[in-house]
Amino acid sequence: MSTPFNPVPAERVGDQSASIWTEFAALAVENKAVNLGQGFPDGSAPKFVTDILKKISEKPEMVDGHQYTRGYGHPKLVETLAKWYSYLYEVAVNASDDILITVGAYHALYYAFLAWINEGDEVIIIEPAFDCYGPQIKFAGGVPVPVLMKLPEGADRACDFKIDFVELEAKINTNTKMIVINNPHNPTGKLFSYSELQRTADLAKKYNLIVVADEVYEFHVENTFNVQGVWKMEMVRFASLPGMYERTISIGSAGKIFSVTGWKLGWAIAPKKLLAPLKANHQNCASSCSTPTQLAVAEALEYEFPKYLFRPFKSYLAYKLPKEICKKCRKMSVMLKKANFTTIWPDAGFFMLADYSNVKNVPNFKESVQEESQAESDEPEPQIEVEDPADLMFARWLCREKKIAVIPLTAFYSTNEDKNANDKMIRVCFFKKEETLNKAKKVLDKLSQ
Ligand SMILES: Cc1ncc(COP(=O)(O)O)c(C=O)c1O
Repeated sequence: MSTPFNPVPAERVGDQSASIWTEFAALAVENKAVNLGQGFPDGSAPKFVTDILKKISEKPEMVDGHQYTRGYGHPKLVETLAKWYSYLYEVAVNASDDILITVGAYHALYYAFLAWINEGDEVIIIEPAFDCYGPQIKFAGGVPVPVLMKLPEGADRACDFKIDFVELEAKINTNTKMIVINNPHNPTGKLFSYSELQRTADLAKKYNLIVVADEVYEFHVENTFNVQGVWKMEMVRFASLPGMYERTISIGSAGKIFSVTGWKLGWAIAPKKLLAPLKANHQNCASSCSTPTQLAVAEALEYEFPKYLFRPFKSYLAYKLPKEICKKCRKMSVMLKKANFTTIWPDAGFFMLADYSNVKNVPNFKESVQEESQAESDEPEPQIEVEDPADLMFARWLCREKKIAVIPLTAFYSTNEDKNANDKMIRVCFFKKEETLNKAKKVLDKLSQ
């Protein structure tokens, strides 16, 4: 008789429950809900970008469009990215040494942790935080160390979320190797100020830390023009701070910047020495990324560059994209407020947090779970442990009963204590086509009655 086949997954895989994205994507489909959950635009991608891909697909003879390309990145893509980021960071970015093209920003983040984190190394992450940082750090053998950003009572703007730098410094010890800074920030929509970034940079320097700067929403920022019509960029890229390029791995996403998230193309940018171990991982992992999308993104970036610099009003990245996002943001804010949510106005990105405490007719989930379970049992007063945070139960109820999918804020905290202290908000993605926003409006209008 053969031994029963009962394989045990590797310990590093850890918790195998479905991620919040998996749960809510399925729940939205199952309930035919308006999906304001996951961060992607559901309208048309920019035509000038998809037209480039179409042109490439119409030339099957094009070897540099359809066959394996240079492993670390298509030559045309790394050339144009070097030009863009040399300008944006005000540092000479070397096309062949300092750029690695990856399968989306997720992959670039994963490489950064795998390449630099050893067993027991600690990585500071600012919570609430994009939820893959913790698991990726643990995969690499590291220990994620959360530092909380707090929103003062009554505050209603994302810029009011503040890092306590004294607490941050207190969490740094001899095991600390890295800090992750996500700017513009998901899920809060905060855009870090120059002084906040500079304080982070001072600590990185003082304790000799590597900085992972996740800047996938770097172009989702409304820029301003002063009275002379001179364009002022609000986004401060971490690598552009004095002396920071040498210790920063900057993470970008073509999917996010050109609103083609399904293309799953991203990059890591860092000086040669810092990037080399990421490249070593890549050559034995993905080895190279999809060639036609790399070429299309390269051509789209080339087309955009002079516009971005000299005719910003004609530029998708400088003007059209942020303008469209701001318009949708205003619309979403009005809709949510009407339904008695308290919105937290974002500085950038395409997410908004909203407190649901004053929404009418929301069941008391903890009590209803208790009642249900008492009804099922004849035992007197069982002690029920309700493990799921209130916002998760609210989001499930909203999706099942009201047909609108959002993400609970607690998904972006790692400890139960912090989840329990922050269980009154949801995150909505407002970068959705008018039809979706109008459907959401109908649902939200009913909530207000
Ligand atoms: C902060 C942040 N970083 C990275 C990513 C991953 O981007 P990509 O789709 O390019 O892998 C996302 C996607 O939502 C994100 O919000």
